[in-house]
Amino acid sequence: MKDLLRTSDLSPADVELLLDTAAQFAVKPFLANTALANRTVAIYMTKPSTRTRLASETAVAHLGGSPIFIRGDDLQIGRGETIADTARIISGYASALIIRTFKQSDVDELGANSTIPIINGLTDDDHPTQLLADWVTIREAFGKDIAGRKFTYVGDGNNMAHAWLTMGAIMGAHVVVATPGGSYAPDISAVSKAQEIAAKTGAKIEVLTDPEAAAKDASVLYTDVWMSMGDPEEERVSKLKALAPFAVDKKLMDLTVPDSIFMHCLPAHRGEEVSAEVIDGERSVIWREAYHRRTTIQAILYHLVRGELSGNTY
Ligand code: CP
Ligand code: NVA
Repeated sequence: MKDLLRTSDLSPADVELLLDTAAQFAVKPFLANTALANRTVAIYMTKPSTRTRLASETAVAHLGGSPIFIRGDDLQIGRGETIADTARIISGYASALIIRTFKQSDVDELGANSTIPIINGLTDDDHPTQLLADWVTIREAFGKDIAGRKFTYVGDGNNMAHAWLTMGAIMGAHVVVATPGGSYAPDISAVSKAQEIAAKTGAKIEVLTDPEAAAKDASVLYTDVWMSMGDPEEERVSKLKALAPFAVDKKLMDLTVPDSIFMHCLPAHRGEEVSAEVIDGERSVIWREAYHRRTTIQAILYHLVRGELSGNTY
């Protein structure tokens, strides 16, 4: 496996390896501090980022390398140089490229035309690095035995909903996504991919439109912003209205199991998708989850650059 372009690129064995390594990097951040010695990792972002950018730059430094951050309009891509040509150029300098942008097809094109690992740091369709951080955090809460547990995401059927379904499927989990449906439902292609993976791993996939049924007896209640980067501003009012019943508040949390946790990839909007009481409450694991963005990106870089991930066999 050369690239991490989408969550479904990972096999269950790859995820196991990455989660175990990330857990080690959580305890010993400098365990592999010469792995990228004298090497550079490019980080190219055409959307804003707090966590992914800082986690990536820190992860590279912890591996002994140097990050090169490139903001959206800095490259000649904006002046018509092709993605394919850019991919070949970056391959000549850096040992890996972490890319955050809009179109998944642009990330795929970088992967197809580069000789270095390309890592998806969020697209409109997917957010694979986030899900690894989420599952390290889930394991810290519940261990590896997740039989009988239900992992629920409520809110917009966006990149996070897709990634939640896919990674849940890889983990063999009972995953639930509840959205208002219609244009807010997760993409059919993402749901079918998760179902295809679930058929091999024994996972159970549920896509619902009832937030209470989704929250009932869940071990994890996860949500994300309602307005994602790139969403049309003119749709804000209608979107927030449609999503209002999916807000995570104490009433929804009270439907979950007694040892449940609340998760959010962040950034959060208190009073919109989640109440302050829940996100700042005792069941919230958001700070640990955010911390693991660094440990997991460090693990991805470590294993991908060494060619140690096998890729999926779905
Ligand atoms: N969760 C996440 O990707 O955060 P940033 O947008 O700040 O990178
Ligand atoms: N769905 C959000 C996730 C941010 C990490 C977005 O794409 O803006």
